Amino acid sequence: MRVLGISGSLRANSFNTALIRAAADLLPSGAELELFEGLGEIPPYSEEADIEPAPLAVARFRAAVDQADAVLIATPEYNGSLPGQLKNALDWGSRPRAAAAFEGKPVAVIGASPGLFGGVWAQADTRRILGIMGAKVLERELPVAQVQDRFDADGALVDEEVAQALKEILDELVPVPTPA
Ligand code: FNR
Repeated sequence: MRVLGISGSLRANSFNTALIRAAADLLPSGAELELFEGLGEIPPYSEEADIEPAPLAVARFRAAVDQADAVLIATPEYNGSLPGQLKNALDWGSRPRAAAAFEGKPVAVIGASPGLFGGVWAQADTRRILGIMGAKVLERELPVAQVQDRFDADGALVDEEVAQALKEILDELVPVPTPA
């Protein structure tokens, strides 16, 4: 099982990217996680640019989603919602409508913020958008509040409760096949 991890942050020391990296170590056995690194190269969506062949960065994004069995998105919250660069990528991933990369794709949404609420609005908006796009969105969220206290100086997740909640989400996102 291949999981594509998408961080909505372009920041080098992003807490949300750190969450995705932590998820890689908590996956059920047999599953692997690839971090998508090209979000910042995706051009602003335009219907006129959305023709074949798609812009290279868009083609790479769509292929990465296509080839994944499931997607894990960790989104920051900017002004009460998801960052524009993530929404932009999702818009590209929602077209062409009938063969969209996210259509029917299992997706979990998590997120982190230094604030007290852990980016609940950003996660709710991202899940709503993914639902409109036709993705199979997990019913769970993981708002990691005061995130600066949950990682050590090397970027390792040191909060047991967050790690446990993340593991439960991954177990649901990537079901382990039961022996026949
Ligand atoms: C923020 N931040 C923020 N935090 C939050 O909890 N709610 C919000 O509405 C906002 N709004 C906001 C707007 C903008 C433009 C910026 C740059 C930041 C703070 C944000 O959660 C913090 O910078 C996180 O560390 C961003 O996530 P990464 O980059 O660490 O993954």
